[in-house]
Amino acid sequence: MSEAQSAGQNTAGQNVVILGATSAVAERYARLHAARGARLVLAGRDARRLEAIAADLKARGAASAQVAVLDLATPEAGFDAAWTAMAAQVGHRVDIVLVAYGILGDQKAAEADTAEMTRQLTTNMASACAWLTVAANHMERQGRGTLIAIASVAGDRGRQSNYVYGAAKGGLALFAQGMAHRFAGTNVKVLTVKPGFIDTPMTDGLAKGGPLWATPEKVAADIDKAAAKGATTLYTPWFWMGIMMIIRNLPGVVFNRMKI
Ligand SMILES: NC(=O)c1ccc[n+]([C@@H]2O[C@H](COP(=O)([O-])OP(=O)(O)OC[C@H]3O[C@@H](n4cnc5c(N)ncnc54)[C@H](OP(=O)(O)O)[C@@H]3O)[C@@H](O)[C@H]2O)c1
Repeated sequence: MSEAQSAGQNTAGQNVVILGATSAVAERYARLHAARGARLVLAGRDARRLEAIAADLKARGAASAQVAVLDLATPEAGFDAAWTAMAAQVGHRVDIVLVAYGILGDQKAAEADTAEMTRQLTTNMASACAWLTVAANHMERQGRGTLIAIASVAGDRGRQSNYVYGAAKGGLALFAQGMAHRFAGTNVKVLTVKPGFIDTPMTDGLAKGGPLWATPEKVAADIDKAAAKGATTLYTPWFWMGIMMIIRNLPGVVFNRMKI
């Protein structure tokens, strides 16, 4: 019996809504479900890329792959109406929602301009919490489902180099943790994902390589396994749990001397 089956979940042919389906991690995650014959809704703002990903996922075995073109940070129709339309694309039964979109954002620009700071917080936190809310209420009504929010290890402790991004991801993680508490003991599961460095377009401005860097395939596979087990928190790769435990517990007098 597979891990997923022993956790009481049948992963074959699930209905999966992916918010931020053009993300490299989300695309690799979608491929895992496509190979099992899932029905997918792919939401994002780049119509042409979404259509190309949908075609690829169908070729990989997806029973269906429909696109929803919208700005996920500020959906024109509003979160409730946009959610209802996406759920309708899979007949209103939604097994899994992955909230994957995000922006790294420019820390210095956010420090200099409150409109930019607010934009970064809205994209990475407020809008993500709104999607989790409409999706959670849907799953509460249907009595089951799995919500997955991609936060970041950056949310575990504020650092001078990226505390606007970190605050948004930390806030998102806390929100998802509270939601997991709300649904404890039910068949609605909420998984918070805290990746470290991943080699994706988001990090193209950084020097890459070395043992701390993961591939999007690795992160997607870790998410898939953790969700099937009904886990509530995932550090990926696993060693980030230890690294962040040390960083969170460094005394301020030491931490404040570090230029990180
Ligand atoms: N890469 C890392 O090192 C790392 C580490 C920790 C956590 N994460 C998180 O992992 C998640 C996936 O990121 P990734 O690494 O796969 O990077 P990615 O390939 O650059 O994906 C980010 C995606 O977010 C989409 N997006 C941003 N704002 C959007 C909006 N307003 N509406 C619709 N789509 C929007 C982008 O779409 P467009 O192409 O249309 O802009 C892009 O497809 C993100 O939440 C990120 O914060 C990444």
